Amino acid sequence: MPTRRILVTGGAGFIGSHLVDKLIEEGHRVRVVDNFDKQVHGNTKPSHLNPEAEYIELDIRNRDKLKRCIKNIDAIFHQAAVVGVGQSTYQIERYIDNNIRGTAALLDVLANEKNSVKKIIVASSMSIYGEGSYSCPKCVKVECKIRNLEQLKKRIWEMKCPNCGRIVKSVATGESKQLTPTSIYALTKLQQEQITLLVGKTYGIAAVALRYFNVYGPRQALSNPYTGVCAIFSSRIKCNREPLIYEDGLQTRDFINVKDIVAANLLVLNNSKADYGYFNVGTGEAVSILTIAQLLTKLYKKTIAPKIINKYRIGDIRHCYSDITAIKKLGFKPTVKLEDGLKELVAWGINEEARDLSLVANRELAKRRLRF
Ligand SMILES: NC(=O)c1ccc[n+]([C@@H]2O[C@H](COP(=O)([O-])OP(=O)(O)OC[C@H]3O[C@@H](n4cnc5c(N)ncnc54)[C@H](O)[C@@H]3O)[C@@H](O)[C@H]2O)c1
Ligand SMILES: [Zn+2]
Repeated sequence: MPTRRILVTGGAGFIGSHLVDKLIEEGHRVRVVDNFDKQVHGNTKPSHLNPEAEYIELDIRNRDKLKRCIKNIDAIFHQAAVVGVGQSTYQIERYIDNNIRGTAALLDVLANEKNSVKKIIVASSMSIYGEGSYSCPKCVKVECKIRNLEQLKKRIWEMKCPNCGRIVKSVATGESKQLTPTSIYALTKLQQEQITLLVGKTYGIAAVALRYFNVYGPRQALSNPYTGVCAIFSSRIKCNREPLIYEDGLQTRDFINVKDIVAANLLVLNNSKADYGYFNVGTGEAVSILTIAQLLTKLYKKTIAPKIINKYRIGDIRHCYSDITAIKKLGFKPTVKLEDGLKELVAWGINEEARDLSLVANRELAKRRLRF
């Protein structure tokens, strides 16, 4: 594999930092641009910064300074974003400005300044689908919109068929599913993906969007109550509080280990068949939120039982897991088993400081009637 000069935006964050380590290990030269957002990092720089990478503390919306950061760069991994589905429902301007204008600034610089960038890989998200795909026992494959409020107020959690009203079964979601984001965060991820693919095509910069499913692993910000259910549950459990579970806990997601996410990024960097495409990156397996809470509690060796609060958060979807046929064709294979990955998360988390701020996040939703 040729040595490249690589820029990672958001490279001090959870996923970005693992990516930086792997790129250095593979012999690439790595520059990071990160604004060390306080919500993620608190007031101190993270201890996981790689001494062999160059770090530039900068907000990507600072177009003038960003100009200098793309000098002599061959490829970009664009990971920088504010991440939080619930929080984005009321911090609309912050999310749109940071994620959409941030991406626009990066691409504007590529379009207008002399540079040698040949490839850009953007971190997209499963959230852009909204609800996952479903199959009805009568109508077969159906497109489901977000559940209606009437149903949710009656605490009927499962998805109903929009044609016949029967309860439908969750099936794997492929890239061709209609994109119906149900939060501002999701909308910004969709924009990030589309802006990157479009500008890439226009200027002949090979762009690729990776639609990550739920990523977990060491270095997830444990005290950030707005993102990452594994991190949120970890900080509750560490503080001897029961994980709080919305709905009945049987809603499912697709949990993919950060190592596999990094592998997918490297795979598409080195495979021109991925160029101008968008790919799901998940395990292809659905796991309930309750299972995650129970596994984590057990691994932290605590006896507290998760608390099912039987409440709904506006915008939450019921089920979504990935169909990974497309990226498998490029050679991708998830390698980390959930139990092993969670074990590693806990081995790291046990020595980390964690402040449980989940009640603050929940109160902010309740105050605005965004949960009931
Ligand atoms: N964690 C997941 O489950 C998941 C799932 C799907 C997609 N993603 C996407 O993956 C990417 C990385 O997420 P993560 O979980 O590592 O989050 P993270 O918060 O740990 O990392 C994001 C990093 O970006 C930086 N950043 C934010 N805004 C910036 C700006 N304007 N300028 C410069 N730096 C900025 C932050 O300081 C942070 O270090 C994001 O784009 C996110 O939307 C994450
Ligand atoms: Zn039906």
